[in-house]
Amino acid sequence: MNLGSEPSSPPVRGHPGYGSFPDGFFDRADETADGLFYGQPRLVTHIDDRAIAAVGELYVRLGITGVVLDLMGSWVSHFHTPPADLTVLGMNPTELDANEAATRTLVQDLNLDPTLPFETNSFDGAVCCVSVDYLCQPLEVFDEVARVVCPGGRFLCTFSNRCFPTKAIRGWHLADDAGHTEIVAEYFRVTGPWSTAPVIEAVLPPGFGTDPLFAVHATVAAAA
Ligand SMILES: C[S@@+](CC[C@H](N)C(=O)[O-])C[C@H]1O[C@@H](n2cnc3c(N)ncnc32)[C@H](O)[C@@H]1O
Repeated sequence: MNLGSEPSSPPVRGHPGYGSFPDGFFDRADETADGLFYGQPRLVTHIDDRAIAAVGELYVRLGITGVVLDLMGSWVSHFHTPPADLTVLGMNPTELDANEAATRTLVQDLNLDPTLPFETNSFDGAVCCVSVDYLCQPLEVFDEVARVVCPGGRFLCTFSNRCFPTKAIRGWHLADDAGHTEIVAEYFRVTGPWSTAPVIEAVLPPGFGTDPLFAVHATVAAAA
């Protein structure tokens, strides 16, 4: 892993879906290696209690259970009842070690290597909570999720309106809440295969005295 303060090499954007996004969209104010920023454990929560509860309720409603992948995870995965088998992939080993719901953890910088080290069709579902805005190569990651999740399994991204500003991509900063849902929906549209158009939900709309919560999700299509 690159833990240095030098900028990481710019990713090669070979995925044809990047044609949907303007130049500079995936740039960040802090282009140093993510290992530097995330090397310090943050045993905190990133959204308020009501938004966290809403994430867990969404996991129940959408049936995210069984063998599950929590991408860009930390010390809490927000399940009301932990899945039987939960793999949590993140950046900080101390945070991951503290995750009591995890049955397996691994440290991987998805901005350096977006290839998931898992067999095809090895998960029943995948989640990514309040983190999708940090991905510089999201299309490769979304394609990989569609590969490692079984047909019919769901990938669910949830997010609010907060972020680590220096590490979020420029395109995220230039968009409002509705724009954020469109960005993630576009990631789904140009990757896959997904069985349906992405579903966008304002789970907790802004203006109710809690952190807002948005969700975008789709299920994996059967292989052609
Ligand atoms: C705001 S925290 C959210 C953590 C957790 N998902 C939650 O709901 O509390 C952002 C997380 O994204 C992960 N992350 C950021 N950049 C990453 C990268 N390049 N590769 C993998 N994970 C990354 C970090 O480990 C961090 O835990």
